[in-house]
Amino acid sequence: MTEQRRRRQAKAEKARLDSMELEDLDEEDVLEEEDVVLPPRDDLPEEDDAEEAVEPDDLDDGEDEDDLDDLPGAAKAAPKTPFTISSAKHRQRYLKAMVYGPYGVGKTVLSSTAQDVPEMRDTLVISAESGDLSIADRDDIDVIPISSYKQLSKVYEYLRRHCQLRDKGDLKSLAKLQQQLRPDEKVTRKNLKQYRTVIVDSLTELHKYCMYQLLGIEIGAFDLDMEPDNPQFAEWGKSGEMIRLFVRTLRDLPMHVIFVAAERTHEDEKKRRFFSPALPGQLSKDVQGFLDVVGYLRAGKAADGQGALTRRLYIQPDDRYDAKCRIRALDGITHFDNPTIADIVEGVI
Ligand SMILES: Nc1ncnc2c1ncn2[C@@H]1O[C@H](COP(=O)(O)OP(=O)(O)OP(=O)(O)O)[C@@H](O)[C@H]1O
Ligand SMILES: [Mg+2]
Repeated sequence: MTEQRRRRQAKAEKARLDSMELEDLDEEDVLEEEDVVLPPRDDLPEEDDAEEAVEPDDLDDGEDEDDLDDLPGAAKAAPKTPFTISSAKHRQRYLKAMVYGPYGVGKTVLSSTAQDVPEMRDTLVISAESGDLSIADRDDIDVIPISSYKQLSKVYEYLRRHCQLRDKGDLKSLAKLQQQLRPDEKVTRKNLKQYRTVIVDSLTELHKYCMYQLLGIEIGAFDLDMEPDNPQFAEWGKSGEMIRLFVRTLRDLPMHVIFVAAERTHEDEKKRRFFSPALPGQLSKDVQGFLDVVGYLRAGKAADGQGALTRRLYIQPDDRYDAKCRIRALDGITHFDNPTIADIVEGVI
């Protein structure tokens, strides 16, 4: 075995152990009980009682062509073991990425091109910025608007259940789960969603919601002339832990996960500018460490100002911006012009 391969295996093992530690994390050491964000909730049906949770009448058990009954049946769930082993080469891979860049550069549009990759469909956007107007023409992409940090744990729990049912091939329970969340739309074979990609748009905004929650600020119920307390050290620390927990937990779902973030600019003493994802301090670095690809999106014209606007996604680190790429198939590629998610994901799926 080559040294490089041994190192890669060690790295993969470390990442695996890293995510297992999450289970053991004593959250109370870090967070107040009411601040814990991602515990399982019983708002959604448990795996075994999913069928009971929705009235059978809610479902289309019809005789028309959209009948769900003749969909492929449920495969038997694998027996539960403390861990499993698979060849690194043949393991099912998902893209775990972040795209960051200045406001309006095209981050949401770029992320949404995941829906154009057949293996990544269906796509769900967790939208914390009301920034989904730029994909309003895409009726094939679903959006969950988020207006508070608390909603996230329910969304996560839904996704976890969704993935379980999807991977079991239990389409009837999947349909019932979908029916609960879309009571006005009859679930049929055609509109049954099987999400394989989730986009979080944006992490920068979610961090703000997290701070609002910790400071007791409720958007919409807050006097605009009231001065919120300056975030104290404890709140910064807690919000950082909450975002770390959220990113790692979401990352570990069996889905392609794309986080969007705004850009932060630093200037050194020589007025040289450096760009990184807009999250406070060490959190910005730590989140990048959890992911396989961090792309920095910029837009510009040729030096003479002529020609069309080009968007460029940088995927290798530079002394002017943060970026990274663990995908071996993209070794040696520094950037993509007018990028789409297909450019990146090719080396993963
Ligand atoms: N690849 C593209 N080709 C053409 N136009 C694009 C492209 N990407 C983005 N745009 C244009 O730029 C606008 C902004 O795009 P988008 O909303 O994706 O940016 P953003 O970086 O997510 O912005 P914000 O930071 O405000 O959320 C879009 O409405 C669209 O008009
Ligand atoms: Mg956007």
